[in-house]
Amino acid sequence: MDGVRIREYRDEDYHAVRELYAAGFTEKLDPLCVHVLTQTRVQLTLLAALLVALALSGSVLASLVCGVLLLLAARLGLRLLLDRGVRLGLSEDLQDVGSSYMTPGRVACFWVAEDAGQVVVGTVGVLPCVTQPGAWELKRISVRRDLRGRGVARALCGTAVAFAARGGVRHLVLYTSVLQADAQRLYLRLGFRKLEEFVWPSAPARLIGFVVYKYGRDLRPPPDT
Ligand SMILES: CC(C)(COP(=O)(O)OP(=O)(O)OC[C@H]1O[C@@H](n2cnc3c(N)ncnc32)[C@H](O)[C@@H]1OP(=O)(O)O)[C@@H](O)C(=O)NCCC(=O)NCCS
Repeated sequence: MDGVRIREYRDEDYHAVRELYAAGFTEKLDPLCVHVLTQTRVQLTLLAALLVALALSGSVLASLVCGVLLLLAARLGLRLLLDRGVRLGLSEDLQDVGSSYMTPGRVACFWVAEDAGQVVVGTVGVLPCVTQPGAWELKRISVRRDLRGRGVARALCGTAVAFAARGGVRHLVLYTSVLQADAQRLYLRLGFRKLEEFVWPSAPARLIGFVVYKYGRDLRPPPDT
């Protein structure tokens, strides 16, 4: 955390926040490819495609080339899927960070971590949870790659949790996915527990077994209330 400080979001952070979010999402392409390749259904489809190519061409080399082309096409498809996920996030609360999080009098806020050069290197937001009335949700937790492992996310989340507790929030939740192993370790260290897991309700997500996890943590009232 040396040289990194946490402060509330300001309008001039808008593009940096969106870029950090997009980068944190698109870096999951390789883990997503690995995850997809571990799915039995995908392995069987790949094997069937190789056997069909072999039967049609009579050439091992041709069937292997076919397999490589198939893998490249699948990677491109997954890239497009991630891009769609990024666009979705950018069109939700991050479309207008100010009005989503920074309206005075509302228990909602967005923070950035900035380095010594005042560059935004981390983000977190908290706002009422749409899917669980009465709970609040931590969102958009992301830290620039070269600054990870130094406690930046822990500090950001700590700020958000303390803010929520002061605002009278009793239940905090967050959503993460099978691709975010680092984030899940972070949440467990912060006292969150896994509450639910489900396959994201869309046809492509079902096809690739994209599992989403809901984590939650109860907060105690601050001592002076
Ligand atoms: C998840 C993420 C925000 C963690 O940021 P970070 O600043 O590196 O996390 P911290 O350094 O604050 O780590 C806090 C705790 O999380 C755990 N942790 C974080 N990254 C870890 C890793 N790569 N391996 C093992 N543990 C890890 C550690 O246990 C650490 O606890 P400790 O300090 O007591 O050891 C960061 O990896 C990231 O931005 N990932 C991409 C975006 C993303 O997936 N966001 C989550 C969306 S749900």
